[in-house]
Amino acid sequence: MKFRNRLVYYLASKMGLHVSFMRVPLSERTKRIPGMLTYEERRFLQNYCRYVYSGTGHIVDLGCWMGSSTLPLAIERSRRPDLIVNQQRIFAYDLFRWEKWMDACITNVSQAKYHYSPGESFRSAFEGNIKDVDNVVIREQDLATAQWRDGDIEFLFVDAMKTPQLALAIQKQFFPMILGGKGVVVHQDFVHYYTYWIHILTYRLRDFLILLYDVKDSASTAFRCRKRIPPDVVQKETFELESICEDEVEEAFSYSLHLINSSLSHRVLSAKALLYFDQGRIEKAESVFREEMSAEEKKDGEVMAAMSLVATRRNPPTNVESALSDNIPPG
Ligand SMILES: C[S@@+](CC[C@H](N)C(=O)[O-])C[C@H]1O[C@@H](n2cnc3c(N)ncnc32)[C@H](O)[C@@H]1O
Repeated sequence: MKFRNRLVYYLASKMGLHVSFMRVPLSERTKRIPGMLTYEERRFLQNYCRYVYSGTGHIVDLGCWMGSSTLPLAIERSRRPDLIVNQQRIFAYDLFRWEKWMDACITNVSQAKYHYSPGESFRSAFEGNIKDVDNVVIREQDLATAQWRDGDIEFLFVDAMKTPQLALAIQKQFFPMILGGKGVVVHQDFVHYYTYWIHILTYRLRDFLILLYDVKDSASTAFRCRKRIPPDVVQKETFELESICEDEVEEAFSYSLHLINSSLSHRVLSAKALLYFDQGRIEKAESVFREEMSAEEKKDGEVMAAMSLVATRRNPPTNVESALSDNIPPG
């Protein structure tokens, strides 16, 4: 590694990973990959791998889709001659099956080649996007049942906790293998209106996972694993909506709100409202929208999506076609 990079790496690790502040530009190749990550998130991944990743454990990318997270990590991984001698890899997991909601994520004409029909495999597109970078192991597996047997994880990027069941399965398999001390887990859906279970589960792990970095202009929040999570802590974890009491909901969400930039707090509050709604506490859900958000915040697209989801769940559509189009996915 060049002396300058060594110095930046040293300072970044001492400073606690505030690498995005270094304004290192994002590579053009990474910008071109279609993806649901903002450029700020991609830059965070690129700079983490360039300056902070030590190579002590593997990098694991859950829900890699077309590779907008895998590519910046892999490019930087391959540029780190100091890591070449070690055996750590980047494991990229996905079902690689197209779903209708993914159509909306192909945003311009130059990305037309990435268009698939529901159910079709898009694995070849992912492979094309990461061709000529080394050390990526593709895992076409269902994370509901995938088994992790590859040792310590230094960096876990999670963009697949789309249901509470999937979140629990991921926690049980992967979290106990995150290195204590330098291990990092990034929740890509932390600042998103839909995935309320992530807040409850993260709050329950607050003795282990502490805030590392809230990625600007994005839904991603990074946590440092200060000590290894014992397997039994996550093995016994459950997520039963009816048994989550109001005190826990309020404490968990107020904990989350302290971690993130306040300019996006209405998105996390929307997640809280959805949790109450799914518990059947409709009044409580509506009071979150009414009393905890400003009129301006209610114009935000994610708050509107959350409110319309509540309305849809209140008055479910009567035909299959509209039920499908109302199936709003998490980002
Ligand atoms: C929101 S997208 C991820 C987007 C991607 N990280 C990006 O930024 O472009 C969620 C991904 O998780 C994958 N996924 C959903 N459920 C899964 C499961 N049970 N097992 C493996 N992958 C899954 C989907 O195929 C999809 O690619």
